[in-house]
Amino acid sequence: MLTEYCVIDAKHPDKFILAQAADVLIRGGLVAFPTETVYGLGANGLDSAAVARIFSAKGRPADNPLILHIAEIRDVKELARHVPANAKKLMNKYWPGPLTLVLERTQAVPDAVSCGLNTVAIRLPESLVARGLIRMAGVPVAAPSANTSGRPSPTTAQDVLVDLNGKINMVLDAGPCDIGVESTVVDCTTPVPTLLRPGGVTLEMLRATLGEIEVAPALGDAEDAVRSPGMKYTHYAPAAQMILVEGEYPAAAAVIGDQIAKAQAEGKRVGAVVSAETKLPPGVVAAVYGSRNNPEEIAANLYNALRVFDGEAVDVILAESIPETGLGLAVMNRLRKAAGYRIIKA
Ligand code: TXA
Ligand code: MG
Repeated sequence: MLTEYCVIDAKHPDKFILAQAADVLIRGGLVAFPTETVYGLGANGLDSAAVARIFSAKGRPADNPLILHIAEIRDVKELARHVPANAKKLMNKYWPGPLTLVLERTQAVPDAVSCGLNTVAIRLPESLVARGLIRMAGVPVAAPSANTSGRPSPTTAQDVLVDLNGKINMVLDAGPCDIGVESTVVDCTTPVPTLLRPGGVTLEMLRATLGEIEVAPALGDAEDAVRSPGMKYTHYAPAAQMILVEGEYPAAAAVIGDQIAKAQAEGKRVGAVVSAETKLPPGVVAAVYGSRNNPEEIAANLYNALRVFDGEAVDVILAESIPETGLGLAVMNRLRKAAGYRIIKA
């Protein structure tokens, strides 16, 4: 299939282009579009056949449910059987924005979206392109990140094309995403809401709004795997093996240096995902994700940094960790997954 590529203004999206993209969705096609977090791969969320196309284009495991994207808070009604008080608080405070809420679903939600769960994940994005597209389509838009399953999420239209060119109908290019990591996922079906995936709305913000929140373990046991199926898969991974060094600086920098020296002595080609403050020896393929003291900058650059190794024949990648405050929690969650939980404690 030919993938149609369209540039669109992020702040003043052209109505004609949005209408064209909405038309593709209504006809059952796939449109990749920008959001404030990452690019999504959209399909009509009420059309099971269209939703099935998302799974085949991405090579996504069939038991990993999708987020339904809506344009107005009132659109929740059709999709959720019940909206607890805590969920209402979160919607009023953080929608539109990088927050996804898991709620009990109605019959309107196709099994293809929720993968047999009795819940549905719903998000109201802030991006004017995303919201305009959903509004014009007039249906909830099912959209995972627009990458091949297991690859880093795309933060530009070019990233989308690297993975999905020829497999989707259209891509809207509104430039790089602001936040750079996916939305926060909160399960509101539990008595105390549960953070399933850290993201753009931070744990500190959720605590301030809710008072109390549980945090699901990153790698769940069987039961957690059922609650948030996405948690059990290795994600965002570059092709080479990645090792995450966790710990305080400068001790962690010393460990990274030792590991690099050891690997190079074994004749290995080494890559490193590090902050701007970390000095690397010669011969290392470097992906600098920003300043150690700026988690927003690091989140925005993270997936781009992981994609640096796409065309590079490196044997091993060392990655630097950052403090888990603010967006740092989401960054560390993604780095641990990218490393497949291969971690050295400094
Ligand atoms: O920022 C984002 O959330 C992006 C943009 C495109 O909106 N989307 C995104 O979708 O990251 P995806 O499919 O890559 O991640 C959705 C996550 C997965 O971990 C999935 O398992 C979880 O949400 N999820 C979806 N439905 C769920 C449900 N009913 N219960 C628990 N977890 C659910
Ligand atoms: Mg994803």
